[in-house]
Amino acid sequence: MSKQAPIRRTTVPQIAARKGGDPIVSLTSYHAHTAAIVDKYADFILVGDSLGMVMHGMESTVGVPLDLMIMHGKAVVRGTKQALVVVDMPFGTYEESPAVAFRNAAKIMKETSCGAVKLEGGARMAETIRFLTERGIPVMAHIGLTPQSSHVMGGFKTQGRDEDSWGIHEADAQAVSDAGAFAIVLEGMVEPLAAKITKQVPIPTIGIGASAECDGQILVLEDMLGLNEWTPKFVKVYGDLGPAIERAVSQYADEVKDRTFPSEDEVYR
Ligand code: KIV
Repeated sequence: MSKQAPIRRTTVPQIAARKGGDPIVSLTSYHAHTAAIVDKYADFILVGDSLGMVMHGMESTVGVPLDLMIMHGKAVVRGTKQALVVVDMPFGTYEESPAVAFRNAAKIMKETSCGAVKLEGGARMAETIRFLTERGIPVMAHIGLTPQSSHVMGGFKTQGRDEDSWGIHEADAQAVSDAGAFAIVLEGMVEPLAAKITKQVPIPTIGIGASAECDGQILVLEDMLGLNEWTPKFVKVYGDLGPAIERAVSQYADEVKDRTFPSEDEVYR
């Protein structure tokens, strides 16, 4: 009986082994078609809960349900062959206890076939990270600006502007690393702090608005493609998809209205 050829994706240990080596390339992706393109260039793809804001028009990531993450996670896994796929655990699915976190992380992994989960929080999540990793669930941590806590933080603010606060972030990084996280996202963090943490911890740091001093970078795909009306200041916009889509849609609308829309024999091949 023939079996399907196994898909060989980048593994969690391969990402962990990149500490201090070749920079790790990553992007978010939420659909099969964009993920298939990103897959050719990224070491890992994050199905971020930013999809709540980017794709579903929510004001924050707090309202993102677990089932939505699973639906998009499945699409990204289906669309990809190479990259490690990491799926975000949404707000309210892991903070209550390590056991609740395990149940929900296992559901994400079983239903999407992703390779790892990501959760937000430093020292306060260390016990949970240990509980998950000891039970076979690889965890990427996320510290600094943690959007799920934006209500407590008072908005989306760059962390570490005041050097007196650095100790908390350094302790967070150390705690998640000691607990078994295989990498840490550093979001919205001043460069010298991100550089210091990157030197201190033995696992790769993945920056987003945290400078080129990190071991790798991640951006929200729609931000760097120029699809969102507003993007954070630190994002370099590499594409102009928003205007390109608008040009195409308005040309189509004009052709329909002017009756210059191509006839059947011009379009169907
Ligand atoms: O949800 C997301 O897209 C993220 C990235 C910003 C790291 O967590």
